[in-house]
Amino acid sequence: MLIGVLKETIPGERRVSAVPDTVTRLIKAGNEVVVEQGAGSLAGFPDAAYIGAGASVDSRKSVLAADLVAGVVLGPDKGFEQAKALVGMMAPFQQPEFMAVLATGGTTAIAFETVPRTSLAQTMDALSSQANTAGYRAVLEGASRLQRFLPMMTTAAGTVKPARLLVLGVGVAGLQAIATGRRLGAVVSAFDVRSAAREQVESLGATFVEVSLENHTEEGGYATALADVEQGRIVRGLSKNVSTADIVISTAQIPGRPAPLLIDDESLAAMAPGSVIIDLASSTGGNTSQTPESGDVNVNGVTIVAGGQLVSAVASDASTLFGRNLVALVDHLYNEETGLDFDDEITAGAVVASGGNLLNDRVRSLLEGN
Ligand code: NAI
Repeated sequence: MLIGVLKETIPGERRVSAVPDTVTRLIKAGNEVVVEQGAGSLAGFPDAAYIGAGASVDSRKSVLAADLVAGVVLGPDKGFEQAKALVGMMAPFQQPEFMAVLATGGTTAIAFETVPRTSLAQTMDALSSQANTAGYRAVLEGASRLQRFLPMMTTAAGTVKPARLLVLGVGVAGLQAIATGRRLGAVVSAFDVRSAAREQVESLGATFVEVSLENHTEEGGYATALADVEQGRIVRGLSKNVSTADIVISTAQIPGRPAPLLIDDESLAAMAPGSVIIDLASSTGGNTSQTPESGDVNVNGVTIVAGGQLVSAVASDASTLFGRNLVALVDHLYNEETGLDFDDEITAGAVVASGGNLLNDRVRSLLEGN
Protein backbone atom coordinates (compact mmCIF):
# COMPACT_ATOMS: atom_id res chain seq x y z
CA MET A 1 0.00 0.00 0.00
CA LEU A 2 1.24 3.52 -0.80
CA ILE A 3 0.88 5.81 2.23
CA GLY A 4 0.98 9.58 1.73
CA VAL A 5 2.09 11.98 4.47
CA LEU A 6 0.62 15.48 4.29
CA LYS A 7 2.17 18.77 5.30
CA GLU A 8 -0.15 20.33 7.90
CA THR A 9 -1.91 23.52 6.82
CA ILE A 10 -3.33 25.05 10.02
CA PRO A 11 -1.34 28.17 10.96
CA GLY A 12 0.93 27.47 13.94
CA GLU A 13 0.68 23.68 13.54
CA ARG A 14 4.23 22.27 13.59
CA ARG A 15 3.53 18.56 13.91
CA VAL A 16 3.64 15.94 11.17
CA SER A 17 1.79 12.63 11.13
CA ALA A 18 4.86 10.52 10.28
CA VAL A 19 8.53 11.11 11.11
CA PRO A 20 11.44 9.25 9.46
CA ASP A 21 11.20 6.55 12.17
CA THR A 22 7.54 6.07 11.18
CA VAL A 23 8.58 5.70 7.54
CA THR A 24 11.09 2.99 8.47
CA ARG A 25 8.39 1.09 10.37
CA LEU A 26 5.77 1.46 7.63
CA ILE A 27 8.21 0.25 4.97
CA LYS A 28 9.26 -2.69 7.16
CA ALA A 29 5.57 -3.64 7.31
CA GLY A 30 5.50 -3.82 3.49
CA ASN A 31 4.24 -0.33 2.57
CA GLU A 32 5.67 2.44 0.41
CA VAL A 33 5.64 6.06 1.61
CA VAL A 34 5.40 9.39 -0.19
CA VAL A 35 5.88 12.54 1.88
CA GLU A 36 4.77 16.04 0.89
CA GLN A 37 7.69 18.44 0.41
CA GLY A 38 8.58 20.15 3.69
CA ALA A 39 6.04 18.11 5.68
CA GLY A 40 8.34 17.55 8.65
CA SER A 41 10.52 20.65 8.49
CA LEU A 42 8.77 22.53 11.34
CA ALA A 43 9.09 19.49 13.60
CA GLY A 44 12.81 19.16 12.86
CA PHE A 45 12.65 16.48 10.16
CA PRO A 46 13.99 17.71 6.78
CA ASP A 47 13.01 16.07 3.50
CA ALA A 48 16.46 14.43 3.29
CA ALA A 49 15.75 12.49 6.51
CA TYR A 50 12.57 11.02 4.97
CA ILE A 51 14.46 10.08 1.80
CA GLY A 52 17.14 8.50 3.99
CA ALA A 53 14.42 6.40 5.65
CA GLY A 54 13.22 5.15 2.25
CA ALA A 55 10.33 7.52 1.41
CA SER A 56 9.95 9.58 -1.74
CA VAL A 57 9.24 13.31 -1.41
CA ASP A 58 6.71 14.80 -3.80
CA SER A 59 3.92 17.36 -4.33
CA ARG A 60 0.65 17.54 -2.34
CA LYS A 61 -1.20 16.26 -5.41
CA SER A 62 0.92 13.08 -5.49
CA VAL A 63 0.44 12.57 -1.75
CA LEU A 64 -3.36 12.93 -2.09
CA ALA A 65 -3.30 10.22 -4.79
CA ALA A 66 -1.82 7.62 -2.36
CA ASP A 67 -3.87 4.61 -1.19
CA LEU A 68 -3.99 6.03 2.35
CA VAL A 69 -3.33 9.69 3.17
CA ALA A 70 -2.24 10.66 6.69
CA GLY A 71 -2.40 14.00 8.46
CA VAL A 72 -2.42 15.15 12.09
CA VAL A 73 -5.33 17.63 12.02
CA LEU A 74 -7.76 17.25 9.13
CA GLY A 75 -10.62 19.58 8.27
CA PRO A 76 -12.84 20.59 5.35
CA ASP A 77 -11.82 22.59 2.26
CA LYS A 78 -8.49 20.90 1.71
CA GLY A 79 -9.49 18.61 -1.17
CA PHE A 80 -9.42 15.58 1.11
CA GLU A 81 -12.53 14.09 -0.46
CA GLN A 82 -10.30 13.21 -3.43
CA ALA A 83 -8.34 10.79 -1.23
CA LYS A 84 -9.11 7.07 -1.42
CA ALA A 85 -8.60 6.78 2.33
CA LEU A 86 -7.76 9.39 4.94
CA VAL A 87 -6.45 8.92 8.48
CA GLY A 88 -5.85 11.51 11.17
CA MET A 89 -7.59 13.58 13.83
CA MET A 90 -10.70 14.87 12.07
CA ALA A 91 -12.99 15.84 14.98
CA PRO A 92 -15.93 13.84 13.56
CA PHE A 93 -18.38 15.06 16.21
CA GLN A 94 -17.41 18.71 15.78
CA GLN A 95 -17.32 18.44 11.96
CA PRO A 96 -20.06 15.97 10.96
CA GLU A 97 -20.57 17.82 7.65
CA PHE A 98 -16.92 17.18 6.76
CA MET A 99 -17.51 13.47 7.46
CA ALA A 100 -20.52 13.58 5.13
CA VAL A 101 -18.42 15.18 2.36
CA LEU A 102 -15.80 12.43 2.74
CA ALA A 103 -18.49 9.73 2.67
CA THR A 104 -20.09 11.20 -0.45
CA GLY A 105 -16.70 11.39 -2.15
CA GLY A 106 -16.21 7.67 -1.44
CA THR A 107 -13.25 8.33 0.86
CA THR A 108 -12.61 5.85 3.65
CA ALA A 109 -12.34 8.13 6.70
CA ILE A 110 -10.35 6.80 9.67
CA ALA A 111 -10.52 9.02 12.75
CA PHE A 112 -8.20 8.68 15.74
CA GLU A 113 -10.96 10.22 17.88
CA THR A 114 -13.20 7.16 17.43
CA VAL A 115 -10.59 4.48 18.07
CA PRO A 116 -12.00 2.65 21.13
CA ARG A 117 -10.10 3.39 24.33
CA THR A 118 -9.41 -0.23 25.22
CA SER A 119 -6.21 -1.90 26.39
CA LEU A 120 -5.78 -3.50 22.96
CA ALA A 121 -6.00 -0.12 21.21
CA GLN A 122 -3.64 1.75 23.56
CA THR A 123 -0.77 1.80 21.06
CA MET A 124 -3.13 3.46 18.53
CA ASP A 125 -4.46 6.09 20.94
CA ALA A 126 -3.26 9.37 19.46
CA LEU A 127 -5.66 11.32 21.72
CA SER A 128 -3.67 10.04 24.68
CA SER A 129 -0.20 10.57 23.22
CA GLN A 130 -1.05 14.14 22.25
CA ALA A 131 -2.89 14.89 25.53
CA ASN A 132 0.11 13.62 27.45
CA THR A 133 2.34 16.03 25.54
CA ALA A 134 -0.12 18.89 26.09
CA GLY A 135 -0.30 18.25 29.84
CA TYR A 136 3.48 18.33 30.12
CA ARG A 137 3.86 21.44 27.98
CA ALA A 138 1.05 23.29 29.77
CA VAL A 139 2.98 23.19 33.04
CA LEU A 140 6.14 24.50 31.37
CA GLU A 141 4.10 27.27 29.72
CA GLY A 142 2.53 28.19 33.06
CA ALA A 143 5.90 28.12 34.82
CA SER A 144 7.55 30.31 32.19
CA ARG A 145 4.77 32.91 32.45
CA LEU A 146 4.64 32.94 36.26
CA GLN A 147 6.98 35.43 37.86
CA ARG A 148 7.62 33.02 40.70
CA PHE A 149 9.61 29.82 41.36
CA LEU A 150 7.73 26.54 41.25
CA PRO A 151 9.69 24.70 43.96
CA MET A 152 10.37 25.91 47.47
CA MET A 153 13.69 27.76 47.40
CA THR A 154 15.87 27.99 50.47
CA THR A 155 18.44 30.67 49.85
CA ALA A 156 20.79 32.85 51.89
CA ALA A 157 18.26 35.63 51.38
CA GLY A 158 15.48 33.56 52.89
CA THR A 159 13.01 30.84 51.97
CA VAL A 160 10.48 31.20 49.16
CA LYS A 161 7.27 29.17 49.35
CA PRO A 162 6.51 26.74 46.49
CA ALA A 163 3.94 27.76 43.89
CA ARG A 164 0.42 26.29 44.01
CA LEU A 165 -0.68 24.45 40.90
CA LEU A 166 -4.34 23.49 40.45
CA VAL A 167 -5.33 20.98 37.76
CA LEU A 168 -8.99 20.86 36.69
CA GLY A 169 -9.99 17.73 34.77
CA VAL A 170 -7.86 14.68 35.44
CA GLY A 171 -7.84 12.75 32.16
CA VAL A 172 -4.62 11.99 30.34
CA ALA A 173 -3.51 15.64 30.04
CA GLY A 174 -4.44 16.43 33.65
CA LEU A 175 -2.54 13.43 35.04
CA GLN A 176 0.57 14.42 33.10
CA ALA A 177 0.20 18.03 34.30
CA ILE A 178 0.04 16.80 37.90
CA ALA A 179 3.11 14.59 37.46
CA THR A 180 5.07 17.37 35.73
CA GLY A 181 4.06 19.97 38.34
CA ARG A 182 5.12 17.62 41.14
CA ARG A 183 8.49 16.98 39.47
CA LEU A 184 9.07 20.72 39.30
CA GLY A 185 8.32 21.08 43.00
CA ALA A 186 4.93 22.82 42.97
CA VAL A 187 2.24 22.05 45.55
CA VAL A 188 -0.38 20.37 43.37
CA SER A 189 -4.11 19.85 43.86
CA ALA A 190 -6.64 18.61 41.34
CA PHE A 191 -10.35 18.07 40.68
CA ASP A 192 -12.43 15.89 38.37
CA VAL A 193 -16.09 14.90 38.40
CA ARG A 194 -15.20 11.24 37.80
CA SER A 195 -14.92 9.34 41.05
CA ALA A 196 -11.99 7.20 39.81
CA ALA A 197 -9.85 10.32 39.53
CA ARG A 198 -9.33 10.74 43.28
CA GLU A 199 -7.14 7.66 43.64
CA GLN A 200 -5.10 8.61 40.56
CA VAL A 201 -4.56 12.16 41.86
CA GLU A 202 -3.47 10.91 45.28
CA SER A 203 -1.18 8.24 43.81
CA LEU A 204 0.75 11.07 42.13
CA GLY A 205 1.19 12.84 45.47
CA ALA A 206 -1.34 15.61 44.82
CA THR A 207 -4.39 16.59 46.87
CA PHE A 208 -7.86 15.87 45.52
CA VAL A 209 -10.22 18.85 45.81
CA GLU A 210 -13.58 17.77 47.18
CA VAL A 211 -16.76 19.31 45.72
CA SER A 212 -19.98 17.70 46.84
CA LEU A 213 -22.21 16.86 43.89
CA GLU A 214 -25.72 15.50 44.12
CA ASN A 215 -25.93 13.91 40.75
CA HIS A 216 -23.43 13.16 38.06
CA THR A 217 -23.07 10.35 35.56
CA GLU A 218 -20.33 8.72 33.53
CA GLU A 219 -20.45 6.87 30.23
CA GLY A 220 -17.65 4.48 29.28
CA GLY A 221 -15.17 6.23 31.58
CA TYR A 222 -16.10 9.68 30.26
CA ALA A 223 -17.87 12.37 32.24
CA THR A 224 -21.23 13.42 30.80
CA ALA A 225 -22.61 16.96 30.71
CA LEU A 226 -23.98 18.15 34.05
CA ALA A 227 -27.15 20.07 34.78
CA ASP A 228 -26.58 23.83 35.17
CA VAL A 229 -27.25 23.66 38.89
CA GLU A 230 -24.55 21.00 39.41
CA GLN A 231 -22.16 22.91 37.18
CA GLY A 232 -22.77 26.04 39.29
CA ARG A 233 -22.06 24.01 42.41
CA ILE A 234 -18.67 23.02 40.95
CA VAL A 235 -17.79 26.61 40.00
CA ARG A 236 -18.54 27.82 43.54
CA GLY A 237 -16.95 24.75 45.15
CA LEU A 238 -13.70 25.35 43.27
CA SER A 239 -13.56 29.12 43.67
CA LYS A 240 -11.45 29.14 46.86
CA ASN A 241 -8.86 26.79 45.34
CA VAL A 242 -8.86 28.80 42.11
CA SER A 243 -8.34 32.07 43.99
CA THR A 244 -5.26 30.77 45.84
CA ALA A 245 -3.64 29.05 42.83
CA ASP A 246 -0.61 30.54 41.09
CA ILE A 247 -1.14 28.37 38.03
CA VAL A 248 -4.35 26.64 36.93
CA ILE A 249 -4.14 24.00 34.19
CA SER A 250 -7.69 23.33 33.03
CA THR A 251 -8.38 20.31 30.83
CA ALA A 252 -12.04 19.43 31.48
CA GLN A 253 -13.84 18.24 28.35
CA ILE A 254 -16.87 16.16 27.43
CA PRO A 255 -16.55 14.35 24.09
CA GLY A 256 -18.61 16.05 21.38
CA ARG A 257 -19.90 18.79 23.72
CA PRO A 258 -18.74 22.30 24.66
CA ALA A 259 -16.21 22.33 27.51
CA PRO A 260 -17.80 22.86 30.96
CA LEU A 261 -17.40 26.24 32.65
CA LEU A 262 -15.29 25.84 35.80
CA ILE A 263 -13.96 29.37 36.35
CA ASP A 264 -16.45 32.23 35.94
CA ASP A 265 -15.89 36.00 36.06
CA GLU A 266 -16.33 36.05 39.83
CA SER A 267 -13.67 33.37 40.38
CA LEU A 268 -11.34 35.16 37.95
CA ALA A 269 -11.77 38.43 39.83
CA ALA A 270 -10.70 36.69 43.06
CA MET A 271 -7.39 35.43 41.57
CA ALA A 272 -4.17 37.26 42.41
CA PRO A 273 -2.66 39.45 39.69
CA GLY A 274 0.28 37.58 38.10
CA SER A 275 -1.43 34.21 38.29
CA VAL A 276 -1.76 32.16 35.11
CA ILE A 277 -4.40 29.88 33.62
CA ILE A 278 -3.46 27.48 30.82
CA ASP A 279 -6.74 26.31 29.29
CA LEU A 280 -6.26 23.07 27.37
CA ALA A 281 -10.00 22.96 26.66
CA SER A 282 -9.83 26.16 24.56
CA SER A 283 -10.63 24.38 21.29
CA THR A 284 -14.04 23.32 22.65
CA GLY A 285 -14.88 26.70 24.21
CA GLY A 286 -12.61 26.70 27.27
CA ASN A 287 -13.13 26.12 30.99
CA THR A 288 -13.13 29.82 31.89
CA SER A 289 -15.56 32.58 30.99
CA GLN A 290 -12.74 34.55 29.29
CA THR A 291 -10.63 31.97 27.45
CA PRO A 292 -9.59 33.33 24.04
CA GLU A 293 -9.80 31.16 20.93
CA SER A 294 -6.03 31.41 20.51
CA GLY A 295 -3.12 33.28 22.07
CA ASP A 296 -3.64 34.84 25.49
CA VAL A 297 -5.57 37.56 27.32
CA ASN A 298 -4.92 39.51 30.47
CA VAL A 299 -7.98 39.79 32.73
CA ASN A 300 -7.29 42.07 35.72
CA GLY A 301 -3.67 40.87 35.81
CA VAL A 302 -4.51 37.18 35.35
CA THR A 303 -3.08 35.71 32.15
CA ILE A 304 -5.33 33.18 30.40
CA VAL A 305 -3.60 31.17 27.68
CA ALA A 306 -5.51 29.17 25.06
CA GLY A 307 -3.69 25.85 25.13
CA GLY A 308 -5.01 24.47 21.84
CA GLN A 309 -1.67 24.53 20.07
CA LEU A 310 0.74 23.95 22.94
CA VAL A 311 1.52 20.48 21.62
CA SER A 312 3.18 22.10 18.61
CA ALA A 313 5.87 23.48 20.92
CA VAL A 314 7.00 19.87 21.43
CA ALA A 315 6.45 19.01 17.77
CA SER A 316 9.32 16.57 17.45
CA ASP A 317 8.30 14.20 20.24
CA ALA A 318 4.57 14.77 19.66
CA SER A 319 5.04 13.78 15.98
CA THR A 320 7.18 10.77 16.85
CA LEU A 321 4.45 9.47 19.20
CA PHE A 322 1.72 10.27 16.67
CA GLY A 323 3.70 8.33 14.04
CA ARG A 324 3.87 5.29 16.34
CA ASN A 325 0.09 5.49 16.86
CA LEU A 326 -0.29 5.67 13.08
CA VAL A 327 1.89 2.61 12.45
CA ALA A 328 -0.07 0.61 15.06
CA LEU A 329 -3.44 1.65 13.62
CA VAL A 330 -2.48 1.00 9.98
CA ASP A 331 -1.01 -2.35 10.95
CA HIS A 332 -4.19 -3.32 12.79
CA LEU A 333 -6.63 -2.12 10.12
CA TYR A 334 -4.84 -3.28 7.01
CA ASN A 335 -3.04 -6.44 8.03
CA GLU A 336 -5.63 -8.75 6.52
CA GLU A 337 -5.70 -9.34 2.79
CA THR A 338 -9.49 -9.41 2.96
CA GLY A 339 -9.62 -5.63 3.48
CA LEU A 340 -11.17 -3.80 6.41
CA ASP A 341 -12.80 -6.18 8.88
CA PHE A 342 -15.84 -4.40 10.32
CA ASP A 343 -16.46 -7.24 12.78
CA ASP A 344 -13.33 -6.06 14.54
CA GLU A 345 -14.10 -3.60 17.36
CA ILE A 346 -11.19 -1.26 16.61
CA THR A 347 -11.92 -1.13 12.86
CA ALA A 348 -15.63 -0.61 13.46
CA GLY A 349 -14.83 2.27 15.82
CA ALA A 350 -12.08 3.97 13.84
CA VAL A 351 -13.65 3.89 10.35
CA VAL A 352 -16.22 6.69 10.23
CA ALA A 353 -17.00 6.44 6.51
CA SER A 354 -16.37 3.78 3.89
CA GLY A 355 -17.81 2.69 0.53
CA GLY A 356 -19.87 5.89 0.26
CA ASN A 357 -21.58 5.32 3.63
CA LEU A 358 -21.35 7.12 6.95
CA LEU A 359 -20.79 4.32 9.45
CA ASN A 360 -20.70 6.20 12.75
CA ASP A 361 -24.13 6.40 14.42
CA ARG A 362 -23.30 9.49 16.42
CA VAL A 363 -22.09 11.43 13.36
CA ARG A 364 -25.26 10.39 11.50
CA SER A 365 -27.41 11.50 14.39
CA LEU A 366 -25.59 14.87 14.60
CA LEU A 367 -26.24 15.40 10.89
CA GLU A 368 -29.91 14.69 11.48
CA GLY A 369 -29.87 17.51 14.05
CA ASN A 370 -30.03 15.38 17.21
P1 NAI B 1 -10.90 14.43 28.19
O1 NAI B 1 -9.78 15.16 27.56
O2 NAI B 1 -12.09 14.08 27.39
O3 NAI B 1 -11.42 15.25 29.49
C1 NAI B 1 -10.52 15.58 30.52
C2 NAI B 1 -11.15 15.35 31.87
O4 NAI B 1 -12.18 16.32 32.12
C3 NAI B 1 -11.83 13.98 32.07
O5 NAI B 1 -11.15 13.29 33.10
C4 NAI B 1 -13.26 14.35 32.48
O6 NAI B 1 -13.77 13.48 33.48
C5 NAI B 1 -13.08 15.73 33.03
N1 NAI B 1 -14.30 16.53 33.15
C6 NAI B 1 -15.38 16.57 32.32
N2 NAI B 1 -16.33 17.41 32.80
C7 NAI B 1 -15.83 17.93 33.95
C8 NAI B 1 -16.31 18.89 34.88
N3 NAI B 1 -17.51 19.45 34.75
N4 NAI B 1 -15.54 19.18 35.94
C9 NAI B 1 -14.31 18.61 36.08
N5 NAI B 1 -13.79 17.71 35.22
C10 NAI B 1 -14.54 17.38 34.17
O7 NAI B 1 -10.34 13.12 28.93
P2 NAI B 1 -9.36 12.00 28.41
O8 NAI B 1 -7.99 12.27 28.80
O9 NAI B 1 -9.64 11.75 26.99
O10 NAI B 1 -9.87 10.76 29.30
C11 NAI B 1 -11.27 10.44 29.35
C12 NAI B 1 -11.48 9.03 29.91
O11 NAI B 1 -10.88 8.06 29.07
C13 NAI B 1 -10.87 8.82 31.29
O12 NAI B 1 -11.76 8.00 32.01
C14 NAI B 1 -9.60 8.08 31.00
O13 NAI B 1 -9.15 7.30 32.11
C15 NAI B 1 -10.06 7.21 29.86
N6 NAI B 1 -8.95 6.74 29.03
C16 NAI B 1 -8.87 5.39 28.78
C17 NAI B 1 -7.83 4.90 27.99
C18 NAI B 1 -7.75 3.44 27.73
O14 NAI B 1 -8.46 2.68 28.33
N7 NAI B 1 -6.93 3.01 26.79
C19 NAI B 1 -6.82 5.79 27.40
C20 NAI B 1 -7.03 7.19 27.73
C21 NAI B 1 -8.06 7.63 28.50
